[in-house]
Amino acid sequence: MNAKIVATGSYLPKKILTNKDMEKIVDTTDEWILQRTGIKERHIAEEEATSDLAYEASLDALRNTNITPNEIELIIVATVTPDKPLPATALFVQEKLGADKAFAFDINAACSGFMYALSIANAYIKSGAVKNALVIGAEELTKITDYKDRGTCIIFGDGAACVLLESTEDEDEGILDIRLHSDGHYTDLMQVPAMGSVEPCSKEAIDNRDIYIKMKGNETFKLAVRHIIGVSKESLKQKNMDFKDIDLMVSHQANKRIIDLVAKKAGISPEKTVVTIDRHANTAAASIPLALDWSVKNKKVKKGDTILLNSFGASLTWSAAVIKW
Ligand SMILES: CC(C)(COP(=O)(O)OP(=O)(O)OC[C@H]1O[C@@H](n2cnc3c(N)ncnc32)[C@H](O)[C@@H]1OP(=O)(O)O)[C@@H](O)C(=O)NCCC(=O)NCCS
Repeated sequence: MNAKIVATGSYLPKKILTNKDMEKIVDTTDEWILQRTGIKERHIAEEEATSDLAYEASLDALRNTNITPNEIELIIVATVTPDKPLPATALFVQEKLGADKAFAFDINAACSGFMYALSIANAYIKSGAVKNALVIGAEELTKITDYKDRGTCIIFGDGAACVLLESTEDEDEGILDIRLHSDGHYTDLMQVPAMGSVEPCSKEAIDNRDIYIKMKGNETFKLAVRHIIGVSKESLKQKNMDFKDIDLMVSHQANKRIIDLVAKKAGISPEKTVVTIDRHANTAAASIPLALDWSVKNKKVKKGDTILLNSFGASLTWSAAVIKW
């Protein structure tokens, strides 16, 4: 049994913050942001919760299927910005959808979150435990972004996207391989220092701005390029493939320069890469499904295509998957 993507969906909150708007908030310029990251604008959630974005993305995916919410068996939400510390955001999504027969939970692997969730759903389907699964990446990163830190605030945005997986007996289609990695030696590269058991919410934590993302961007950048190439090769090799065999590479959208460098080093032409970071910025767990959904809606993907997904996130997690569409 393989797991196959039968639908994709996405949702972006209405409010847009452009680089020009950013110039009014921190000491930066539109040119710097565009040149160093590829970002032009990002979406910002105001009244909506992460589960609202996830719910809208799920409706978008279900719209073109004959599956009703009541038939969904598993819901996984990948997020680092849940509605609340507990319960899981996936349960709010389940309730909103009326997916009463599903079981639902969240996972946190930062920007690799969607890939980790995809691998879990894949395993459930392959084992025969469920016949379908809704895998969602949903984030409101702007809620944990420090708008006094120009090194980080320019790169994050909000959004949600998802895939609906179903089992297939055709071994040559769907998710052919998926590889996950993590390295706990680098947890200091990217963190929200407070709001957990180590440093619960306090006035001091707020005053020190420890409730926001801290990132060593430059070090993270170098590791990202190396690990994305390594894990992608590893995943392709499992299927006796190489970079030349792929039709499309859908990468985590952290920085356009990372995507360009990976493609250059792997010998992948720019037309085979997907760039949505200009409009979405970095939306962590939502970024790969947002880029995939955009590719589907814009007919960049056709039946029989080999798609490489790859991710890199805090800190450190990285992964790749090979999919036959
Ligand atoms: C965050 C990131 C865009 C910063 O770009 P960078 O080129 O590495 O920039 P640096 O942090 O080295 O800073 C270079 C200079 O630009 C300045 N700078 C930083 N942010 C700036 C901004 N928004 N506007 C203008 N100047 C800025 C710095 O102060 C520094 O100035 P200095 O040389 O005078 O000290 C980049 O490091 C990045 O994308 N990293 C990877 C993030 C990632 O993959 N995260 C994991 C997954 S989310």
